[in-house]
Amino acid sequence: MPALGLGTWKLNGAQCRHTVLNALSMGYTHIDTAAAYDNEADIGAALRDSSINRTEIFITTKIWYDSLSSYDVEKECCNSLQKLRTDYIDLLLIHWPNKNIPIIDTLRGFAVLFDKKLVRSFGVSNFTLPLLKETLDVSNLPICVNQVEFHPFLNQSELLSYCGQNNITVTAYAPIARGRVLKDPVIEQIAKECGATTIQCCLAWLRQKGMAAIPKASSEAHLKENLGSLKINLSKEQIAKIDSLDKGERLVNPEWAKF
Ligand SMILES: NC(=O)c1ccc[n+]([C@@H]2O[C@H](COP(=O)([O-])OP(=O)(O)OC[C@H]3O[C@@H](n4cnc5c(N)ncnc54)[C@H](OP(=O)(O)O)[C@@H]3O)[C@@H](O)[C@H]2O)c1
Repeated sequence: MPALGLGTWKLNGAQCRHTVLNALSMGYTHIDTAAAYDNEADIGAALRDSSINRTEIFITTKIWYDSLSSYDVEKECCNSLQKLRTDYIDLLLIHWPNKNIPIIDTLRGFAVLFDKKLVRSFGVSNFTLPLLKETLDVSNLPICVNQVEFHPFLNQSELLSYCGQNNITVTAYAPIARGRVLKDPVIEQIAKECGATTIQCCLAWLRQKGMAAIPKASSEAHLKENLGSLKINLSKEQIAKIDSLDKGERLVNPEWAKF
């Protein structure tokens, strides 16, 4: 999975098609979407119009938490494939856990999709440590990714370390804390030292900690700036300084996630 992807939540219609096409032409090779974003058809249109080969692009999509029975998982995946105009999904995630649907049932659906070669890899999103452990205990398929909120102000180091020990890549969502990192004085100072921007240093920090990041951007300038983070390398000291900014600030905490 490419270390930098394009987040697409809140990108819809012509703006989504234009942004995804633009991103692909700039060199983005990883697009993050979800059934719940209602933009898979727009992304499918961009994939159709792009001159980049499908095999060069890594697509992640997610199944909403009310559709996690094995029957629904298969149905939802087929809908996503149709909208995305593709015959396989690189990574399929459980968008949010659902205490009322046994994980083993969802995994049964995943196994069918894998056998039919419709999905290449599977993962979860918004899974806490206990939920992740429970899932690994019963899963016959590798759980490749846990996509969670992760940025300098919410540094989930224990979860990251557990994932590392179990070959699970963490994908950071809201990786720039929805712009809040822009004015952080510590990251601003590091950015000056590196001749980079605060956003680029934040994304480099995530990459150097072994994570993928999927910042959402719609303007060409933001897309370019974020892509430029791949050329930035922080020192161990600079990484440690950003590590120290954690304040447990969670931006995404919906009602359905509380159990
Ligand atoms: N699994 C989940 O439950 C879950 C939850 C939330 C998000 N996600 C995924 O993660 C992606 C990213 O998270 P997010 O969209 O919540 O937050 P984010 O990526 O941290 O922040 C997006 C905001 O930052 C701005 N931005 C982007 N690049 C910038 C730059 N270089 N300089 C200044 N501002 C910049 C964007 O503005 P412009 O649009 O104007 O460029 C947008 O307003 C989502 O799009 C989605 O794909 C997943």
